[in-house]
Formats: sequence, structure tokens, C-alpha cells
Amino acid sequence: MLLAPKPGETIVDCTAGRGGHASQLAQQLQGQGTLLLCDLDGGNLAYSADVVAQACPGVHILRHHGSFAEAPRVVAQAGLRASVVLADLGFSSTQMDDPARGLSFMRDGPLDMRLDPSAQLTAAALVASASEQELERIFRVYGEERMSRAVARKIVATRKAAPIATTHALASVVKTVIPATGPINPATRVFQALRIAVNDELGHLDALLAACVAPSSRAGSGLAGSAFWLAPGARVGVISFHSLEDRAVKQAFAAAESSGGRANKKPVEASEAELARNPRARSAKLRVLTLA
Ligand SMILES: C[S@@+](CC[C@H](N)C(=O)[O-])C[C@H]1O[C@@H](n2cnc3c(N)ncnc32)[C@H](O)[C@@H]1O
Repeated sequence: MLLAPKPGETIVDCTAGRGGHASQLAQQLQGQGTLLLCDLDGGNLAYSADVVAQACPGVHILRHHGSFAEAPRVVAQAGLRASVVLADLGFSSTQMDDPARGLSFMRDGPLDMRLDPSAQLTAAALVASASEQELERIFRVYGEERMSRAVARKIVATRKAAPIATTHALASVVKTVIPATGPINPATRVFQALRIAVNDELGHLDALLAACVAPSSRAGSGLAGSAFWLAPGARVGVISFHSLEDRAVKQAFAAAESSGGRANKKPVEASEAELARNPRARSAKLRVLTLA
């Protein structure tokens, strides 16, 4: 509702995933308009393009296998102006549930964590090569983990004897340092931190937000070049899943208000019905910015 695409407009789904949001949005184009799907995961990108093509005949579908940080360039190079931009951050449940992706301590698998399986850096390589100080910073900053120093120290001591190559191996190391006190697995914050670092998640988010709120990104701003990628009055929605992401979105949208944008004051959270369908939505927050 808040993003309200109209027939003829261009939508960018920055995080195509399994095509659920993209289909809902593209249906509102009523067969007229363009949808750019982006995803780091080539499998999800192909799957979502098929889903949308079935659900929304007539909509012109473009794909970008890569980061949403590159979406502004892709849109501008295609000679388009986006009226709706959506980023639903993080990972899909299919990625989380696949032990081969190494995203979950619930299942044993290689310590991978790459959202783009063709990217260079795996979590195992990071855990094997980062200095103790760097690991400590990752756990403290990206995981907001209070025991970051002790976990980093323990990892460095453990990896001298044998590489920490699997999700269960890492979770066991963390468990020796952080006692389990409640229902939350003690490795939760360490896994989140590594995933953010491996995929440079906050770097990509910052780049996308900067491109959304920069006055030069809008057609008619008087500036020249491929910076134009948003139509006047464009709506930008970001769904975040943890406080680091939400803080970045909130700050960027507040800054955009000084150049005429309007942001919803309170983030939209999932309804009870949505939570029953998708328990992961418990921590989801949607913020929407409407540009001048
Ligand atoms: C929460 S899922 C999106 C689910 C989607 N909204 C749906 O309805 O199915 C997040 C998706 O974003 C992708 N992703 C995460 N970070 C990305 C980035 N920086 N650039 C492009 N895709 C990204 C992930 O690979 C994953 O497929």
C-alpha cells in the first residue's frame, strides 16, 4: 500500500528472493511497466523471475545478478527512472535452511555464509585469516556481542590446532565461551556478525541508501549524468531485521526529509497473521520514504 506502484511505472526489487514481494508489487502494474529484479544469489534471481513472469504477464522483467548497490547504475543505463524501490534485507528461508550455505548453527555444513556463492570470501576463510583484533571488532560491531573479545581469543587459540571449517565446529567453540542462559543459542550474534562481514551487508545498504537520498539521484534535479535513476515522487521501502540496519535506514531517511522527502515516523511491523505465516517477520521493520 505504502509503495503503491501504478501502471506504467518502474519497480526495483533490490532483493528478489523467492519473488513474493516482487509479484505483489508487479501485479499492481496491471501488465504495463517494468520490474528490475536484483539478487546476489543467482538461484533466487532465476526462481523469482519465473514466479513473477507467471503471476504478472505483460510486465517487462529485467534481472541483475549482483548487489543492489549497483541497481542505480543498472536503472540509469537502461534509460529508466524507478518509481518504487524495495529492499527486504538479509537472507531467504531457503538459503537459511540449506546446510550447504552454512548460514545456520541449527544444521551442520561448511562454514560458508556467502549470499552470492560465486563471491570469493567465505566465513571459514575469514575465521581462518582475520586477526584477533579484527574478529573482535566484527563480533562487537556487527553482532553487538558483549563477549566479543573472549570469543575472538578462543577462535584464534582453537584454529591453531585445526581449522574451524563447519557451522557446528564454530557453534561449539562459541558455546565454550558464552554460556547458554535462555532460549537463544549463544552463537546467534556471532553468526549474524560473520554473515554481515562476509557479505559486506552494511556497506551495500549504505551505498543503496546514499543513492536513494542524494538529491542528484532524481530526474529534474538539474545535475547531469547516470546519477539519475529515481522518478520524482519515488517511494523507497526498506525492510530491516536488526538494529544496525534499522538505524542506518532511519538516519538516511531522516536526512532525506531535509530535501523535501517524507518518511513514515513509526516503522511498520508484522501483523499477527503475518507472524503466524512467517515467524522470522517478528523482528522485521518496514520504513518508507517518499521523495519530493
Ligand atoms: C529476505 S530475502 C527477500 C525475500 C523476497 N522479498 C521475497 O518476497 O521472496 C533477501 C534476498 O536478498 C538477497 N540479498 C541480500 N543482500 C543483497 C544485496 N546486497 N544485493 C542483492 N541481493 C541481496 C538475498 O540473496 C536474498 O535472496
